Amino acid sequence: MENPFNLFKRTVFPSSLGVDIGTTSIKVVEVKQGDKRPFVVNYGLLESSGYLARANQALQTSNLKIFESDVTELLKTVIREMGTATKDAVASIAPFSAFMTVLDFPNMSQQEMEKAIQYQAKQYVPIPLSEVALDWLKVGESQDDEGFMRQKILLISVPLEQIKKYQRMFAAAGLSLRALEIESLSLARIFGGDPTSTIVVDIGSRSTNIIFLENGRLAWNVQSDFAAATLTQNLAESLGINALRAEELKKERGILGTGPNRELSTIMIPFLDAIINEVKKAQFGYKAQFPSAKKTERMIITGGGANLLGIGPYFEREFALPVVRANSFAGFEHDPAIEPLIPELNPVMSVALGLGMKQFA
Ligand SMILES: Nc1ncnc2c1ncn2[C@@H]1O[C@H](COP(=O)(O)OP(=O)(O)OP(=O)(O)O)[C@@H](O)[C@H]1O
Ligand SMILES: [Mg+2]
Repeated sequence: MENPFNLFKRTVFPSSLGVDIGTTSIKVVEVKQGDKRPFVVNYGLLESSGYLARANQALQTSNLKIFESDVTELLKTVIREMGTATKDAVASIAPFSAFMTVLDFPNMSQQEMEKAIQYQAKQYVPIPLSEVALDWLKVGESQDDEGFMRQKILLISVPLEQIKKYQRMFAAAGLSLRALEIESLSLARIFGGDPTSTIVVDIGSRSTNIIFLENGRLAWNVQSDFAAATLTQNLAESLGINALRAEELKKERGILGTGPNRELSTIMIPFLDAIINEVKKAQFGYKAQFPSAKKTERMIITGGGANLLGIGPYFEREFALPVVRANSFAGFEHDPAIEPLIPELNPVMSVALGLGMKQFA
């Protein structure tokens, strides 16, 4: 099979779809070439109804097979509602479906590197290499004690079974899957325009993806299972209400924590703190792994969880860093009609927009 990570490098399509299949929702953007920048023609966002009712069973469970047909149906629906004729799609793979590790190599030619990586991969990838698609990128450089340059390589492997499943789902929805990439790369494309050393914290339903960008490029990335759905679950349990109501309350009130909302904040904050702890652990891990990395200068929060009212100031206090909400549409032109929706869409659509940007990057 041709390497699915590279299919897009060769051709340019007139317009393409960026498709982010999240745990609880599917996000799609259609992007074409604009006057100066890529142009967002249209977007679609479909929450998988019933996931709250089904409690923990969501679209992307470890056993996704049961839900493959659900994903296809949702994909068909969202495409139909968008009214797009574009069939070419680029999709992302969640960090919990990929295996990533950083390897350290002396400087060598591209050809030698290919061989060395294959060899090393055997030791690090937990399943046989015949069953995975491998990709790698250089994420850092350093000088060893004797003055020789060494490079850090981020090795990404995705089980072929996972890729085939995506191909099946997209084919069944009448789409042509042109490329797949891990979400972290899509996010790095969206937020990497600025060389400021940045941590991107993508708070999704099921997982929080913590990404370190250096010189605008992906350097390191850690995934945690503490995420936005845990806030809803614990609100429901503590207040003895169903998950749908808890979700509504969470979105309406957030952690602003005054007057009658104080109780909600008190319940949710420990779970937000759990996410914060994971980010702090990731910061330690990053320092250990990349001792010469520049000091992080800002944090970008994204994913649906970044819409929690009050989260920005709370994170700012906890991290003593400027915390900015994602501005994912910044690199695009778009229809003025969607302008009023952009503040809320910014964090939710960042992965899909990163995918939509891929063919223009
Ligand atoms: N206004 C809001 N306030 C608080 N939380 C919100 C708000 N809007 C969305 N969320 C939360 O964001 C989460 C969904 O985020 P997102 O769409 O990024 O997740 P996902 O991509 O489906 O999941 P994952 O990335 O983990 O697979 C849900 O838990 C939802 O409750
Ligand atoms: Mg997501």
